[in-house]
Amino acid sequence: MTDNPLFSIKYVTMKGTFMEHSQIIEALNWRYATKKFDSSRKISESDWKVLEESLHMAPSSFGLQPWKFLIVQNPAVRKQLTPASWNQTQIEDCSHLVVVTTLRKMTVEHIQHLVDETAKTRGLEASALSTYRDMMVNSLTQGQAAEFSNFWTQRAGLHCYGVFT
Ligand SMILES: Cc1cc2nc3c(=O)[nH]c(=O)nc-3n(C[C@H](O)[C@H](O)[C@H](O)COP(=O)(O)O)c2cc1C
Repeated sequence: MTDNPLFSIKYVTMKGTFMEHSQIIEALNWRYATKKFDSSRKISESDWKVLEESLHMAPSSFGLQPWKFLIVQNPAVRKQLTPASWNQTQIEDCSHLVVVTTLRKMTVEHIQHLVDETAKTRGLEASALSTYRDMMVNSLTQGQAAEFSNFWTQRAGLHCYGVFT
C-alpha cells in the first residue's frame, strides 16, 4: 500500500484525524447487526440527527435517490408492521424504526427533478444536461429496464436503529 493520499485508505479522514488500517478493521469488527434492543432506551436527539442526515446522503444509481424514509415512532403502527417483518421483535423494541419506501418505477418527472437540481447547483441551463437526461430516461423508464420494477424495491426495507443491551 502506497502512502500517496490518492491511493491509500490510510488517508481516510474524520475531523482531520487519520484512521489507520487497523482502526478501520477494528471498527468493522466492532460493528454488528443488533438482534435485541432495550426498548426503555432511546437514541439521543443529537445522535439521531446525525443518523437521519446520513440517510439523506445515501448514494444511489445516477444519484436518483428514488426513495423516502418514514420514521415510525407510533407503537400501534409498529405493531401492525411486525408481521411484515417475520414477527421480529426489533420492529417494536428499537429506538427509531425507519421504513424505506421506493418508487416502483422510475419516472420522467423524477429524472427531470434531478436534472433541474443538478443544473441549479452547477449554474447551468437544464438544456445543457439534455443528453444526460435523455440517456437516463431511455435506459430507466423505457424498454426492458422499465419492467424491472423490483430493482429499486430490492434496495429498500425496514431498518431498526436502537440502543442495544
Ligand atoms: C440485506 C440485509 C437484510 C438483513 N435482514 C435482517 C433481518 O431481517 N433481521 C435481522 O435480525 N438481521 C438482518 N440482517 C443482519 C444479518 O443477519 C447480519 O448482518 C449477519 O447475520 C451478519 O452479522 P453481523 O452484521 O452482526 O456481522 C440483514 C442484513 C442485510 C445485509
